Order: sequence, then structure tokens, then C-alpha cells
Amino acid sequence: MNVPVKPKIVGHRGAAGLAIENTLAAVEIAARCGAQGIEIDAQVLGDGTVVVHHDAQLGRVMSGHLPLQQLTLPDLDKIHPLGLVASTHKERIPTLRDLLAHADAVGLAVNIEVKNDGHNPEWLARQVLSVLADWPRHDSALISSFDIELLAAIALLAPTWSLGWIVADLPSSWVETLKGIRATSLNLHEAAVTEAVVREAHTHGWLVQSWTVNEPDVAERLSGWGVDALITDYPDRLADRL
Ligand code: G3P
Ligand code: MG
Repeated sequence: MNVPVKPKIVGHRGAAGLAIENTLAAVEIAARCGAQGIEIDAQVLGDGTVVVHHDAQLGRVMSGHLPLQQLTLPDLDKIHPLGLVASTHKERIPTLRDLLAHADAVGLAVNIEVKNDGHNPEWLARQVLSVLADWPRHDSALISSFDIELLAAIALLAPTWSLGWIVADLPSSWVETLKGIRATSLNLHEAAVTEAVVREAHTHGWLVQSWTVNEPDVAERLSGWGVDALITDYPDRLADRL
């Protein structure tokens, strides 16, 4: 008899519904609320420093208005979350290196979503891989992106990394695309997931991870279809239900 496997609960942007997104504080809350992993967004500053932030520009979550490409590492000291008078080191834009160390400390797997805001894919791949080179947790990590050219560059430069392709709508060529980058995972918007897609992905040996799953009823349905991981702003809600 097949025993159904529960999907992993992955905190989206750390745990965006419970803390300031993509911060060390969000990582800690995700761990405390029953997540097994986190998804975080990586971007590159003008000096090549890889940081964890969703937007290409300041102003939505963090103070300021400049594009990240006009910032350098020391500038991070002057930026604080909007709505907070003062931030601690846990509530600021972290470097990718610091965030990975923090995830290690609390025992969470990491899905590093690399955003590409107009960079050359190979250059960006090299920047991110330079941070990951001395990080020993290949086994529990995934590099994901909407940008298939970036993933292809990583597949060439660092073939041992697990790669996930993020898509909102599944094109008819999805199987060929995933084969082309020797993917580990299809990271699909929850509205586009069907039982048939999950079954087909599994026949190829790919995981299916779905985002952003905040409703426990949706989580239960996707779990019943065999989705492997649920990326959520509210790991607490899903941990309570599943
Ligand atoms: O990793 C999937 C998801 O995070 C993609 O959307 O905009 O929240 O980074 P976004
Ligand atoms: Mg993301």
C-alpha cells in the first residue's frame, strides 16, 4: 500500500505573512512555525554583493527609493524596514551569505530564487555561484528562477546543483524546457497545478513545488495530488492543517 507523503512546508520570502519578508527574522519565524524550508529572493547590488531582497528597487518593504544596482554593501547599514523606527540586524536586507548561515543555524532547507533584473545571465550565475562555492549544503538546497537562460548558465557552470524552473503558466513545451536544464523541480503557481501535471512531472523524476499557497483548503487539495512542497507566506496555517 502506498502511504501518501506529506508535502514539505516552505516559507515564502522566509515567512512573508509573519515577519518582514526576506530577513533573518522571517527565517527564524519560519523555523518556529513548522516549516522545513524557506524560499528567498536573491538580487545583486552594484558592487556585485548578492543580497536577499525581492524587488529590484527600494521603497516597498525597505526605506529609500534607489535601484539595488546603485547600492553597495555599506549602504545596507543605512536601510531599514518601512514602518519600523529602528531595525535590528535581523530586520534588514541580509547578504545571501549571512542568510544561508542563519538558515543553517535553524536547520532549514533553502530554495534560492535568483531574480534577474536585466543582467547578463552568465555573469549573474557566476556572482551567485561565487557565494555558494564555500557553502557545504548542496544536498538541501535548490536554485530556482523564472529566467531559463540563467538556469541554463548555472547548469553549465555548476552541474551538481539542483535547479527549479519557476513558472506561472505552463507552456506546452514545459517538459522539453525542464529536460534542457536537467531540472530537479517544477515550481508552479498554485492556480496552474493540476493532478495530471503533477503525475507527468513525477514520471520524469521532477519534484513539483507550488507557490504561493496560503489557504489551508488549497494546501490540502495540492497535497492530495502529490505536490512535493508548498511555498507559503503562512507556514503556521499549513502546519496546523497538514
Ligand atoms: O519561488 C516562487 C515565487 O517566490 C515567485 O514569485 O514574486 O514571490 O518571487 P515571487
Ligand atoms: Mg520568490
